[in-house]
Amino acid sequence: ENEKAIDIGSLRTQTGYVSLDPAFVNTASTKSAITFLDGEKGILRYRGIPIEVLGEKSTFVETSYLLIYGKLPNRVELSKFSTLLTRHSLIHEDMKRFFDGYPSTAHPMAILSAMVLSLSSFYPEAIDVNNHEQIDITIARLLSKVRTIAAFSYKKSIGQPFAYPQNSLSYCGNFLNMMFSVPAEPYEIDEDIVKVLNLLLILHADHEQNCSTSTVRLVGSARTNLFASIAAGICALWGPLHGGANQEVVEMLEAIHADGGDVQKFVKLAKDKTSNFRLMGFGHRVYKNYDPRARLISSAAEKILTKLGINDPLLEIAKRLEEAALKDPYFVDRRLYPNVDFYSGIIYRAIGFPSNMFTVLFALGRLPGWIAHWKEMMEDPSTKIGRPRQIYTGEVERAYTPLDERA
Ligand code: ACO
Repeated sequence: ENEKAIDIGSLRTQTGYVSLDPAFVNTASTKSAITFLDGEKGILRYRGIPIEVLGEKSTFVETSYLLIYGKLPNRVELSKFSTLLTRHSLIHEDMKRFFDGYPSTAHPMAILSAMVLSLSSFYPEAIDVNNHEQIDITIARLLSKVRTIAAFSYKKSIGQPFAYPQNSLSYCGNFLNMMFSVPAEPYEIDEDIVKVLNLLLILHADHEQNCSTSTVRLVGSARTNLFASIAAGICALWGPLHGGANQEVVEMLEAIHADGGDVQKFVKLAKDKTSNFRLMGFGHRVYKNYDPRARLISSAAEKILTKLGINDPLLEIAKRLEEAALKDPYFVDRRLYPNVDFYSGIIYRAIGFPSNMFTVLFALGRLPGWIAHWKEMMEDPSTKIGRPRQIYTGEVERAYTPLDERA
C-alpha cells in the first residue's frame, strides 16, 4: 500500500499521511498574525495596516515597532524604542578588528551573516531564549548594529576609515552618514533621500513565510537564539532567487544597456528554457498580480531620480523591459509581474550604494519581520521543533560489501 502511495508522493505513517510538497507550494508551515498578503489581489498589510499607508506616513523605526510588538507605538513607546536603537548602535571595538580579516573584495552579505552570528558571542546572555528580560535589548542591538556592520563593511571594502554612528541623527540619516561621510568631507543628509530610504526599508520589512523568514523560524524552532537565527535568515536571503535578485536585476539591466538596449532580445531569451536565463526581478511564488511594493518603488524611483537630477539609462531600460514582458503571452499566461527587487536597485544606485550592498539593504529592511516571526514563534507555547518529513525513494535494505569485493 505504501509503495503505491510513495509513487504519488505520499506516505502513511502512524501519525497520518505525509504528503510531498517540495518548496511548500501548498503547505502552510505556521499560523501568524503579523502580515496579511493576498497575492491574487496584490494586497500587503502589516498588522492590518496597508503598506501604502505606512510608506507614506510612517518611518522604518515606527514600522519595526509595529511588526515586532503588534501595534503602533504611542509617543512614549516610540521615543523609548528610538532611544534604545540610538544607544545600541556601536559595535564592540574587538568586533571592528574582524573586518581586517576579510579580503577587501569580500561580499558584504558574507560579512554580515558572520558578524550577526558573532553578536551572540559578545552578548551571550541572548543565548538563553527563556531570558525574557533580555529580549528587548537583543532586538534593539540587532536593529541598530546591523546598520553599523553594513556601513563598516562598505568602508572596509573601499579602504576608508569607519565613520562612527552619531546619536543626534535619525535611524536612516545615521546609516547614510556612516556609509558616505569621510573625515575631509562631511556628508550632507538630504531629507528626500532619508525619506526614500525609509520607504524602501518599510516595503521590505516583512513578507510572511518567504524563504529567509521560514529559515529564521525553522532555525529558531530548535530554541536557537535570535542572533544565530537571523544569521541563518541572512544566508537564505543572499540567494539570487530571493533577496540576491536586487543585485542581479541591476547587473542584468547593465548587461542589456551594454548590449545596445534591445529589451525584446532579453525577453525572448528569458522564455527560452534552454538559456538558463530568467528576467530577474520578475515573478513571485505568491503574487499573481502586480506586486504592490514594486508599484510604489517604481514611482519613488522616478521621483528621486528627478529630484537628484540623475538621468540613469537603467530606469528607462527597466520600464521598457517591463512593458515588453507584460505584453508577452509567456509572462501574461504565467502571471509574471515585476517584484520588489525590480526597481529598488535603481534607487539604491542613485543614492550611491554599490550593487553588492543591495542585498544587505534588503536584510536591513527585513530585520523587523524576521525578529517579529522569531518572537511570535517563541511566545507561542504550542511551538514544536520544525522537522519536515520526506518520502524515501532509495533501496529499502542493502548488504554491506567488503571493500575488496566491490567492482
Ligand atoms: N523569467 C522567466 N520565466 C520565469 C520567471 C522569470 N523571472 N519566473 C518564473 N518563470 C517561469 C518558470 O520558468 C515557470 O515556467 P513553466 O511553467 O513553463 O515551467 C513558471 O514561470 C513558474 O515559475 P516557477 O519557477 O515555478 O515559480 P516559483 O514560484 O517556483 O518561483 C521565483 C518564483 C523564484 C521568484 C521566480 O519567479 C524567479 O526565479 N524569478 C526571478 C528571480 C527573482 O526575481 N527573485 C526575487 C523574488 S522576490 C523575493 O524573494 C524578494
